[in-house]
Amino acid sequence: MNYPSLQNKASLKSVAAFIPENILSNQDLEKIIDTSDDWITRRSGIKQRRIAAEHEKASDLGTRAALLAIQRANLKPSDIDAIVVGTLSPDYFTMPSTACKIAANLGLEGISAFDISAGCSGFIFLLETAKALVESNLRKNVLIVGAEKSSSVMDYTDRGICILFGDGAGAAVIGVDDKYPIIDTHTATDGRYAELLKIERSDKTSNAQPLAMKMQGKEVFKIAVETLKNDVVEILAKNNIKSEDIDLFIPHQANLRIIKAVQEKLNFPDDKCVITIQKYGNTSAASIPMAMNEAYEKGRLKKGDLILLDAFGGGFTWGSALLKFGGDDFKGK
Ligand code: UT7
Repeated sequence: MNYPSLQNKASLKSVAAFIPENILSNQDLEKIIDTSDDWITRRSGIKQRRIAAEHEKASDLGTRAALLAIQRANLKPSDIDAIVVGTLSPDYFTMPSTACKIAANLGLEGISAFDISAGCSGFIFLLETAKALVESNLRKNVLIVGAEKSSSVMDYTDRGICILFGDGAGAAVIGVDDKYPIIDTHTATDGRYAELLKIERSDKTSNAQPLAMKMQGKEVFKIAVETLKNDVVEILAKNNIKSEDIDLFIPHQANLRIIKAVQEKLNFPDDKCVITIQKYGNTSAASIPMAMNEAYEKGRLKKGDLILLDAFGGGFTWGSALLKFGGDDFKGK
């Protein structure tokens, strides 16, 4: 069926990130669990990750990224008319939403604000939701935020998972601009795999965390690689875009080997791929906007660049997006 083309095209008009100060290196982890820098580097590509301070919650990290994203979109907080947050480490489990807290931190009462639970694919789901809100004329300027204090749901005695995750936040403003559209998004889920990657009550009474993430890493890895390789090929084909047309590939940062598998599938040279996993680990819903922000601040991402995003996470959830970057070129901090 052919749908009538919508008048307004949603556009990603800015990106920003907040990166906590404290570094947890592989060498630090060697002191608390049976692991090695060599193993973590070879199997995941990670060298270090950031850990938020005790008093910092996901909403605090998200608010810092949000303020900068709003400023970079040449807007004021009062111009934002909806906030959608992706997080697996919300301030509260599960109410109030982290989006409510971010709205309050920005001084915005009475606007729509809600969280999306899509694990590490959160940012693609946020993008799709914001695109729909803007293109249906329901909202004008939607703030999307990936905010993670993953350390609050991590069992630091489980070496199969705690080596992977880090804290951080990334944000973007989605508004209207027909010249630099979010061309397409694809999101999908398969709940048959729910048990392979989940957060549940910790069974360790000695563990200070009441909740802990659990993962059957090898199984998740295999399905993630195959799913993402197919997903990126499909979104490019559906939109008649060749991989050589893509200026930057900004994948979710779960494992360097997963990123490399997709990179090889699409024949992307290294200079077309944004990789930050060595510094930040897997920051779940925050990883794509954090990586996008890094490319932006380094001058690798310019207005009008054609970007491909992909992500995979607990649920299972996965997805991809194609867009022209609609932000102004970076002018310095
Ligand atoms: O973002 C959401 C999606 N997440 C992902 O996509 C993550 C997917 N999974 C992964 O990234 C990888 O599976 C891991 C990095 C978690 C693990 O890598 P792997 O190559 O799949 O290792 P494995 O789980 O098969 O374990 C291999 C060996 C095992 O020892 P044996 O049974 O061969 O003697 C593990 O016990 O490595 C051992 N091992 C470790 N050794 C040192 C597991 N974790 C560690 C560790 N340090 N931290």
